[in-house]
Amino acid sequence: MEKIRAAITGIHAYAPDYVLTNEELTHMVDTSDEWIMARTGIRERRILKGEGLGTSDLAVKAVNTLLEKTSTSPRDIDLVICATVTPDMVYPATANIISDKVGMVNAFSFDLNAACSGFIYALVTGSKYVESGTYRKVIVVGADKMSSIVDYADRATCVIFGDGCGAVLLEPSPNGYGIMDAILRTDGSGRIHLHQKAGGSVKPSTHETIDAGEHFIYQEGQAVFKFAVTNMADVSVEIMERNHLKSEDVTWLVPHQANLRIIEATAKRMGIKKDQVMINIQRYGNTTNGTIPLCLWEWEDKLKKGDNLILSAFGGGFTWGAVYLKWAYNGLS
Ligand code: ACO
Repeated sequence: MEKIRAAITGIHAYAPDYVLTNEELTHMVDTSDEWIMARTGIRERRILKGEGLGTSDLAVKAVNTLLEKTSTSPRDIDLVICATVTPDMVYPATANIISDKVGMVNAFSFDLNAACSGFIYALVTGSKYVESGTYRKVIVVGADKMSSIVDYADRATCVIFGDGCGAVLLEPSPNGYGIMDAILRTDGSGRIHLHQKAGGSVKPSTHETIDAGEHFIYQEGQAVFKFAVTNMADVSVEIMERNHLKSEDVTWLVPHQANLRIIEATAKRMGIKKDQVMINIQRYGNTTNGTIPLCLWEWEDKLKKGDNLILSAFGGGFTWGAVYLKWAYNGLS
């Protein structure tokens, strides 16, 4: 019997309206547009403003439109996985909240935390439920309100991150296309370089942890950069080799958008030209779990049935990985 493959059959994304420019950041910390552009490639990022709004509010915008676009009833969704590092609350899972707000009343739902690699981890996890024949309609969300954990007095991190999200519908493939292969990796010893110090069970929140700024992102940028460049490039080359793909066979590289220099180094190692790489970091910054679906959404109208895509990510944990998929439908325009 032919293997059931899981394919992305629809995508939508959402980024909030407020644009935080490099110019505005120069009034908040000692930085410049030149430094940010040269070191990261970021010109602006989006920020979710408004009391009481969280990651689920970003996700609901993407999921509602995704369901409309694919003429899918929320009642028909079997499973919702939300990849996030900025859940609405410690518990319940943000996926539970999204399911409730969208009316996906027959779905079970859970969150997945793999930092910036979360979306590809969740995509692969969701695909297994489809490939096994257990479920037919799975929503995978990558969403983060990074502004909720960014210290806007720390110039080394506040210039990088933004808010945004995207969601895909996974279904049994209509044409044998879909997710072909994936490699996912973890090295927990990397946690010393990138983490949030307080608010977990090791160091619950106290007045002291707040005063010490321990609820913000802690990142040793250079150390993370070194691991990111090496591992993202290695895993992307490994997935190409294992699937006998040459650089000219790859239609698009869809990299996590953490830093333009990491993206360029990965593309170079893969032998891929710049016009084969989805890059929108200049407009959104690093939206953590939102970056890859934001790219797929912006490029959706250019994508063709049978295009070979390599999705590639690196993030806190450390976590990293690559997914090889054959796009299953022609772009909408
Ligand atoms: N403006 C001006 N100067 C700055 C700024 C800024 N915004 N930020 C740092 N600097 C200064 C530093 O203080 C330092 O000054 P010094 O030499 O006088 O000490 C100098 O610039 C160089 O600092 P570095 O940290 O070495 O700068 P680098 O070139 O490494 O860039 C960056 C920093 C952008 C953070 C980079 O290291 C990076 O992209 N790292 C990887 C990030 C990443 O991939 N994270 C993983 C995903 S995130 C997740 O999983 C949640």
